[in-house]
Amino acid sequence: MTGATSATSLDALWMPFTANKAFKSRPRLLVSAKDMHYRSDDGRTILDGTAGLWCVNAGHCRQPILDAMMQAASTLDFAPSFQMGHPLMFQLADRLAALLPEGMDSVFFSGSGSEAMDSALKIALAYHLARGESERCFFVGRQRGYHGVGFGGISVGGIENNRKTFTTQLLPHIDHLPHTHDLAHNAFSKGQPQWGAHLADALEDMVAKHGAERIAAVIVEPVAGSTGVLVPPVGYLQRLRELCTKHGILLIFDEVITGFGRVGAPFAAQAFGVTPDILTVAKGLTNAAVPMGATAVKTSIYDTVVNATERGIEFFHGYTYSGHPLAAAAGLATLDVYQQEGLLTRAATVSPVWEAAMHALRDAPHVIDVRNIGLVAGIELAARDGVVGARGYDVFTNAFHEQGALIRVTGDIVALSPPLIISDAQIDELATKVRRALEATP
Ligand SMILES: Cc1ncc(COP(=O)(O)O)c(C=O)c1O
Repeated sequence: MTGATSATSLDALWMPFTANKAFKSRPRLLVSAKDMHYRSDDGRTILDGTAGLWCVNAGHCRQPILDAMMQAASTLDFAPSFQMGHPLMFQLADRLAALLPEGMDSVFFSGSGSEAMDSALKIALAYHLARGESERCFFVGRQRGYHGVGFGGISVGGIENNRKTFTTQLLPHIDHLPHTHDLAHNAFSKGQPQWGAHLADALEDMVAKHGAERIAAVIVEPVAGSTGVLVPPVGYLQRLRELCTKHGILLIFDEVITGFGRVGAPFAAQAFGVTPDILTVAKGLTNAAVPMGATAVKTSIYDTVVNATERGIEFFHGYTYSGHPLAAAAGLATLDVYQQEGLLTRAATVSPVWEAAMHALRDAPHVIDVRNIGLVAGIELAARDGVVGARGYDVFTNAFHEQGALIRVTGDIVALSPPLIISDAQIDELATKVRRALEATP
């Protein structure tokens, strides 16, 4: 064991989404970070190809965010948000509303992306109930969708591994649209693939099967991230929007990773020109310096729910940490940094350089697809001898231990999503490190 590891027992911690036994036999510990880099416990500099976990959009340890957090923590450590409030949470809601697509002017805070999604599902049900349509209780998610790990999120989500242990207790009244991933039609697409808009029409089949009047909401990530960067085909999200509107179904965009500039606009809704009814965010909301999630809704949804109750609490839902002062301060400072540095649109400017560097990996060993949008790329590898994920895992560990790069893999797909401050030279460096990791992996 090295550095901090030698003084730290790894035994007591049950690590999330981690191969615990493999990790503990060869740990990967990060001990500090600044801008585009981490430092590992053995003193190496690691280029961050994943903005932590799709979340440190402005780069690490940004001083204005840290200063705002210090100030907030020493002024108001906590204030309850049930029947009470504090100015920062209102200010952040206001700033968010100004950035969100027009008409999405109400914001409900939570502590994570998973909580933001559970809040979204509950708001959808509360909205239909307030309008007297209590039979609208079906949720339609999408295969390969990731919406966090609450029972709501894994139910509407479509990742089998996340559901298989819990199948007896998932939410009832759920169906899933097909995913849009199809290498036969779309391999090596640059930006949005041309093929696949018609896959949204599967919603008509769900309507025929369950009845339009029973479907509360359709939930999708505009760009699916956790299952390996699935970029929406041209026209797909527009078609989903049309069908939802036609059938009175709410459209929920999970923008936990696409929010805050990842695809070249503040939100993917704006980048793709499609406005949902409900939109969830987390991660980049505070540059991940402190946990926070939020669920934004159209004003008409807020009005409908709140006006349906004459007196008292209108919506029985909330978290101890909804709008926490430290998180709200970090959120406000983060939005300042994003706006002052033009980070909410920078991915659109850098995208051609990123696209060229990523697609140049096409001839690297094992690569069967490269896809990209904004500052995101998916590099899909052939699975090794039918053992799904083994090659991806080896590329990931080689990148970290030998090349000095943090990349992310899901199965055999390398997903890259660096901080939005990445320079052209660092894009090249990241691509080179990924190529070397691919070349070093059988
Ligand atoms: C699209 C999406 N939704 C929800 C979540 C869950 O967020 P959290 O881990 O903060 O609960 C994630 C996390 O990666 C995500 O990518």
